[in-house]
Amino acid sequence: MPNLKHLLDNNREWADAIKREQPDFFTQLSMQQSPEYLWIGCSDSRVPANQITGLKPGEVFVHRNIANVVVYTDLNCLSVIQFAVEVIKVKHIIVCGHYGCGGVQAALENHEHGLIDNWLRHIKDVIRFHKSEFDGLEHHDKLDLLCELNVREQVKNVAHTTIVQDAWKQGNELSVHGWIYSIENGILKDLDTSVSSIDEAATL
Ligand code: CO
Repeated sequence: MPNLKHLLDNNREWADAIKREQPDFFTQLSMQQSPEYLWIGCSDSRVPANQITGLKPGEVFVHRNIANVVVYTDLNCLSVIQFAVEVIKVKHIIVCGHYGCGGVQAALENHEHGLIDNWLRHIKDVIRFHKSEFDGLEHHDKLDLLCELNVREQVKNVAHTTIVQDAWKQGNELSVHGWIYSIENGILKDLDTSVSSIDEAATL
């Protein structure tokens, strides 16, 4: 039976290397986690939250799904946001999309992939909300634009959850940010759509 030994070997080497540098790293980390950031990103294997931001274990709380979508009735995503905001008390929620996102592309091109098509309906809604902005664009530019608009919409959705709204009502320090990552050059871009209060969120 295949046992993926190479991955377990990699893990041993990784843990040993960290312990050589900081012998009490895992002992310290096992006591508690207090990350400042919640990352909501795409499941795409090329966009690993920790690596691309240079964050260590313990420094970022992560939720990923196909095309980094935040749906008001998604108990999974809402539970992550609630736990991150109310229990861990993160200071920043980063919604991070990426150019060339397969989920976004499937929504744009009307490719059928089965069950996932229902999830991607949320991205088709983004196209509907911004229909005129796509007029006259080449296909590649449409895809880039939709990847960016999808992040902006999801920032809006996070900012309007009862969880984030309640945190702001209580005067807690909390910001929601929209970023996009380029798989082609490894660079993150801030989409300048950050909000830190109920009033700011109302302008989105
Ligand atoms: Co993606």
